[in-house]
Amino acid sequence: MLEKILPAEVACAEVFGDPLGVVLFPEEEAVLARAVDKRRREFTAARHCARRALADLGVPPVPIVPGERGAPQWPAGIAGSITHCAGYRAAAVARTRDVVTIGLDAEPDEPLPDGVLTVISLPAERDRQDALVAARPGTCWDRLLFCAKESVYKAWFPVARRWLGFEEADITIDPVRGTFEARLLVPGPAIGDVPLTGFTGRWLAADGLLLAAITVPSQLKS
Ligand SMILES: CC(C)(COP(=O)(O)OP(=O)(O)OC[C@H]1O[C@@H](n2cnc3c(N)ncnc32)[C@H](O)[C@@H]1OP(=O)(O)O)[C@@H](O)C(=O)NCCC(=O)NCCS
Repeated sequence: MLEKILPAEVACAEVFGDPLGVVLFPEEEAVLARAVDKRRREFTAARHCARRALADLGVPPVPIVPGERGAPQWPAGIAGSITHCAGYRAAAVARTRDVVTIGLDAEPDEPLPDGVLTVISLPAERDRQDALVAARPGTCWDRLLFCAKESVYKAWFPVARRWLGFEEADITIDPVRGTFEARLLVPGPAIGDVPLTGFTGRWLAADGLLLAAITVPSQLKS
């Protein structure tokens, strides 16, 4: 279902369980040296997805290990993103000539635990949440906001190489078009000559999951 919210130049793969027989590279095994079983399973399934997606771009299997602040290290010329949550693992990749960064996040379509929305949202976002809940009950809009914010961070970090707090992006969800706009409240890096001021993403609710995906084209329009 991920392909529904990604452009054609992005290759993706997803699994709804843990595929058997996935072989990790020694570099990846080293990352898991002290990992608990849950972490081993999600990491391994995500590598399976990443290699399938890379194969669609014609890229042979390579180790994909976490780098600075956990960001996955992709082969030269590739941008990508990984997500995993209970019952779902996915990866999306593209050529950097087309796409400069990708942010992908999946969450269960369940309400956030009490108190979390206040921590991860701005007052204006909470006002919009109230309107969404009143107009369209049935989707966990608080969790979708969280999911969109996580996708923002994953798209932001590879190009900015620094932290972005939950209070540093103001997100507006469009419930009809299945999109969201993230307005950056801090200066962003330049993409080419154009300053990055925000992100446009797409989202999807299906099969008890929420997915959010951001793709930033290499040629940003000013
Ligand atoms: C890093 C973070 C976004 C991961 O999200 P999550 O929902 O906990 O976990 P997911 O399973 O969806 O994603 C995990 C994957 O994210 C990727 N990831 C981790 N750190 C990353 C980073 N700095 N940049 C890009 N991708 C990163 C990794 O590929 C990781 O999988 P892997 O370890 O198997 O390679 C989250 O833990 C976090 O730190 N959030 C706080 C920052 C934030 O969201 N700010 C809001 C800005 S508006």
